[in-house]
Amino acid sequence: MDEHKLAPEERAKLSLYRDQLVAASYDQRWRGGRGRARDQRKQRAIATALALLGPAKTILDVPCGTGRFTGFLTAAGLEYTGGDASLAMLTQAKTKHETARFAVVDLARLPYPERSFDVALCIRLMHLVRDRELRASFLRELARVARVGVIVDFRQDKALRVWLGRARAKLGLRAKPPGALALEKIHQELADVAKPRR
Ligand SMILES: C[S@@+](CC[C@H](N)C(=O)[O-])C[C@H]1O[C@@H](n2cnc3c(N)ncnc32)[C@H](O)[C@@H]1O
Repeated sequence: MDEHKLAPEERAKLSLYRDQLVAASYDQRWRGGRGRARDQRKQRAIATALALLGPAKTILDVPCGTGRFTGFLTAAGLEYTGGDASLAMLTQAKTKHETARFAVVDLARLPYPERSFDVALCIRLMHLVRDRELRASFLRELARVARVGVIVDFRQDKALRVWLGRARAKLGLRAKPPGALALEKIHQELADVAKPRR
């Protein structure tokens, strides 16, 4: 990824996770009752998407962060590879999942040939990326390396969390409203990437 093209604020947001303290405390958000429920919901959504895609043996999880889904995907019988731009996040992941395969990668330029994996998974990244072209380049890379299909999550602007985040921003309780897109826009971006390129 050419980080010089990003707005300073966006660069800061994406590189936040390179900080060792941020990486070390990242999993705390999934530990409370609400965090665990969110985590379980996401696992169920991924399991549903995998079932819809059909038979798959291998999966690339980018960004894998601290290995939030490593155990779940390995237990589902998938041959797992996790990739992330942050060595600090990957170090946490490797501590928890010693035998899993992880690599430092940039989602804008994955170091894998076309169709190297059955499925490419991308969770909890798109809402951090405010630049449409960067989102498109991430989606293109996921589609390029996946043989069966891509699973990606977006944050849509009608979600309760987004509404609450906007209210908190208005009240000065957070610096900026959360990144989120209208559902139609998400569909459009996905359709644009799915179009054959000339
Ligand atoms: C919010 S975390 C999500 C991690 C994981 N998918 C999860 O659900 O917990 C965002 C991750 O994206 C990674 N990241 C940011 N830019 C990236 C890039 N260009 N390529 C690969 N990973 C990137 C960060 O290092 C961070 O670990």
